[in-house]
Amino acid sequence: MPNQLTDENILAALGGVKDPEIGRDLVSLGMVKSVNIDGSVVDLTVELTTPACPLKAKIESDIGDALTALGASLVRVDWAANVKRTFGGPATDLIPGVRNTIAVASGKGGVGKSTVAVNLAVSLARDGATVGLLDADITGPNVPLMMGTQGAHVTGTGGRPNPVVAHGVKMMSIQYFLQADAPVIWRGPLIHSAIAQFLRDVEWGELDYLVIDLPPGTGDAALSLSQLIPLTGAVIVTTPQEVSLLDARKAVAMFNKVNVRTLGVIENMSGFVCPDCGSEHDIFGSGGGAKIARELQLDVLGRIPIEPGVRSGGDAGVPITSSQYPDGDESAAGRALREVARTVAGRISVLAAPSVVAAAS
Ligand SMILES: Nc1ncnc2c1ncn2[C@@H]1O[C@H](COP(=O)(O)OP(=O)(O)OP(=O)(O)O)[C@@H](O)[C@H]1O
Ligand SMILES: [Mg+2]
Repeated sequence: MPNQLTDENILAALGGVKDPEIGRDLVSLGMVKSVNIDGSVVDLTVELTTPACPLKAKIESDIGDALTALGASLVRVDWAANVKRTFGGPATDLIPGVRNTIAVASGKGGVGKSTVAVNLAVSLARDGATVGLLDADITGPNVPLMMGTQGAHVTGTGGRPNPVVAHGVKMMSIQYFLQADAPVIWRGPLIHSAIAQFLRDVEWGELDYLVIDLPPGTGDAALSLSQLIPLTGAVIVTTPQEVSLLDARKAVAMFNKVNVRTLGVIENMSGFVCPDCGSEHDIFGSGGGAKIARELQLDVLGRIPIEPGVRSGGDAGVPITSSQYPDGDESAAGRALREVARTVAGRISVLAAPSVVAAAS
């Protein structure tokens, strides 16, 4: 193959490589940041719309194919990332440095919201994003325990608390202001003002993603949140059984009512693989997430099996996506949680893509 490697030819070839999720080519999306040719070796810098890109491997192989066809013997891609804001209008005053907000919600309690929120945040951070995690469960805060920061207390000056940092994630929870085991028995208005303060006063800095762990149901915290800040979207966690699905429908309806888009449904506790015999048991039934997604025209963002390591990781303050990183030596649930995080990041990238924002504004 004759060497046809020139800047022009390379850019023309990359103009035929699409970001599979956004559906447009890398050059017109401005993702190719530099090209360096040394004989038949090409070095590229490609800027992704999220470091947690679910299709990086596909993009890399498509680039390789396109440039090999021009005579390249070796193509090396240096990945960068620039997470864009999904809010069409001006940034909100409350959280000016935050580019995207993801609410993790469910209708029913105990389905794994906090587990999903914590692992979503840790996974995005492990992939290289700057991530915050807000525990909006004021009366039943679980984030500190699950992130191993139960004894932590806030520091900061001038009424601007610093987030507590663990597993690469900046966090805030009412628990950091309380003595251990002290109950919070606040009603709506106080919950609203606590959430407003967590958003406005905490030194979040620049964040690619702020993940928000909501209490169960369709109560005050979810409504407050939707009134206080623009939400990129909500992910609804459900378990497969009918009672959980019933409540998940209500959660989706509530978000519709307050004009918050639902990014999709996560089916948690979806099957248990017996460690002794290896066979799978559907303890809570199966396919419930898919059923509700179909019915409400939503996507299933992932199915997470029941696995003892998910529970023990939460109890020990070391989320499974932290202990099992990097790729390769992880369990089915660890992998499912990481894939969910990348899927969510991918969805958000599509929402933030220029044409989508332009069409929405
Ligand atoms: N996939 C899973 N495999 C095993 N255990 C899990 C899984 N998902 C969640 N759990 C465990 O189930 C329990 C409930 O999960 P979690 O606290 O995340 O639910 P929640 O929806 O946030 O509850 P609440 O409504 O009380 O806020 C926890 O002990 C958690 O470790
Ligand atoms: Mg919870």
